Amino acid sequence: MKPFYITTPIYYCNDRPHLGTTYSTVASDVFARYQKLRGRPTRFLTGLDEHGLKIERRAKDEGLAAQDFVDRMAAPFRTAWQELGCDFNDFIRTTEPRHKMRAQVLWQKMQANGDIYLGHYEDWYCVDCEAFYTHKDLVNDTLCPTHKKPVERIKEESYFFRLSSYTDKLLAFYDANPDFVRPEGRFREVKSFVREGLRDLSISRASFRWGVPVPGNSAHVMYVWLDALTNYISALGAPTEQGETGQLFQTYWPPQGEAVHIVGKDILRFHAVYWPAFLWSAGLFPPTQVWAHGWLTVNGEKMSKSAGNFLTPGPLVEALGADVVRYYLMRDIGFGQDGDFSHRNLLARYQGELSNGLGNLLHRTMGLVQNHFDAKVPTIDLRQLSDLDSQLQNTAQRCAETAALHFKAMAVNRSLDATWELVAAANKYVDETAPWALAKQGNSERLAEVCYMTLETLRWLGVMVWPVMPTKSNALRIQLGLPPLMPIVNVNYWPSAWGGLVGGASLKPGAPLFQRFDKAQEQSVLERLGAPASETPAVPRSVAAQTEPRKPLSPIPNMSHITIEDLSKLELRIGKVLSAKPVPKSDKLLVLMVDLGETAPRQILAGIGKSYDAESIVGRHIAVVANLPPRTMMGLESQGMVLAASDQTGLSVLNVDRDIAPGTRIS
Ligand code: ME8
Ligand code: MG
Repeated sequence: MKPFYITTPIYYCNDRPHLGTTYSTVASDVFARYQKLRGRPTRFLTGLDEHGLKIERRAKDEGLAAQDFVDRMAAPFRTAWQELGCDFNDFIRTTEPRHKMRAQVLWQKMQANGDIYLGHYEDWYCVDCEAFYTHKDLVNDTLCPTHKKPVERIKEESYFFRLSSYTDKLLAFYDANPDFVRPEGRFREVKSFVREGLRDLSISRASFRWGVPVPGNSAHVMYVWLDALTNYISALGAPTEQGETGQLFQTYWPPQGEAVHIVGKDILRFHAVYWPAFLWSAGLFPPTQVWAHGWLTVNGEKMSKSAGNFLTPGPLVEALGADVVRYYLMRDIGFGQDGDFSHRNLLARYQGELSNGLGNLLHRTMGLVQNHFDAKVPTIDLRQLSDLDSQLQNTAQRCAETAALHFKAMAVNRSLDATWELVAAANKYVDETAPWALAKQGNSERLAEVCYMTLETLRWLGVMVWPVMPTKSNALRIQLGLPPLMPIVNVNYWPSAWGGLVGGASLKPGAPLFQRFDKAQEQSVLERLGAPASETPAVPRSVAAQTEPRKPLSPIPNMSHITIEDLSKLELRIGKVLSAKPVPKSDKLLVLMVDLGETAPRQILAGIGKSYDAESIVGRHIAVVANLPPRTMMGLESQGMVLAASDQTGLSVLNVDRDIAPGTRIS
């Protein structure tokens, strides 16, 4: 078994960790844990990308020196990953001396190989991507294709890397290594990009200072992507001027080790095209595989720092625990595909699969052994299993094998599907064997068999869920009287032999693994999580109460036409309701704070209090007339008007059905 090295992207520390970056980190942790569980020597690296124009500008905005800014940002990342149960072996920051030194050595090796020359650069630059674009890449001639933000013209002296001379070598390498990029569709995109021919790459910047100085020319700093990619080997102690003899690098980097980079699809090109070329140039091997997963989206848009539409993992972890968040992220989104984050799905999976599925299986089995076997593993004859028993055992065998194959192929969601097939089979087994009836009949021999089979299935499940839910796995194992799992190199813990539980061993029945929520608790969890109104649908009160038949409306009277210019006088805008409170002494007015995309939110009074509870309107994207003069009612100024329709059942506020940016004009 080759040693296994797995890495996350190193994240820009210009903002806090969010659920998107959480996704990559958790996935990498899950794969690392799986390999450790199989007894494979495994190393898991994550860290931070702390250089570049984006960070420099952000630090300036905060009024801090760049180093002070990144120092302040590093701790929240480290703790966020730890709170999510991510057990990394190393955390690298590109401002650390151990990294900067190696990045410079890499440069020198590339230079010694004749791959670096000085020239001039002129092209378009997106600071959010930290990447150059040519005119044909741009959207509407001016915008970055990823961030849809204006690009900047950059013209300066720059060092170049002879990427163009690696085109053929890359294509040959891709042919010889058909698994180099996953999923396959993304690999095809990479190949066709390279087939079009590669241009030399600008690898230094002279117009700002926040980076690793170029060896021999301190007027330049290294391009942040060259600097950043080096982290994967600098953390292993490479490269060195004398050649690579360091233990970690020797063990974990190819050809001895297997190195897998987990990345989002947005940064695949850097990893699958530039990185192998840089490494070859320095006389090193490329990584074994680059796995490009999809995006976690919010209403179909990529969740990102730049878009500002991100959710942080903290509140979810606080409300449901790290393991549940890990489980949701790994189960709900096909690894490699995009998936929309949904608080509702999170809760539905919690209730259905965790609480009613795995949790209930454990809980009812523990109840039985406590009542009928003095909380001990019943002793049975494993050579004489009934059909139902053998069926369960076979299902366990099959599901464990399938789950392992999927883990190996990084299809973690499929692995969990297979695991939950076993959860369902075991719950069905309990229903069909009806242990409570056996107890009533006094059939303790059969009851012992049923309990043993279920406990043994739980033992298997405890191992199978460990990569995704290490804390819950250990809590489950404690109830089964087993020690927590602590992977050891060369010991394979993946279940394959039936009958690991020993008759007579003590069990420790404990609290439910996943507390069940009733409807009211579910609602309050959703609210605590800050689920948007679209996920906690508010039913206007008067509509719910309405029973009378509707009166026909009067026809639209003959009216005079307006011109399009008249219409354009109306500033109709989308506003996002930030807060809402009843106006004291008014039964009908609510005072809303509405984000119209301006520097400050507006205070708007709306006469909708009879139809809506204040809270139910918060988070909605509503239609606002933005250019009426301010007007004072009940001593409060209203800086706009909310549009609503009314019939005899009450009012209904106009809102849009997705997360449109506040301030967007309605036309
Ligand atoms: O690109 N869904 O850093 P970054 C899923 N510093 N994954 C997401 C995501 C989303 N909505 N948003 C971000 C950089 N990610 C460079 C990397 S590596 C040598 C340098 C994850 O902070 C995903 O893995 O912009 C993506 O590739 C990475 O965060 C980008 O993080
Ligand atoms: Mg990014």
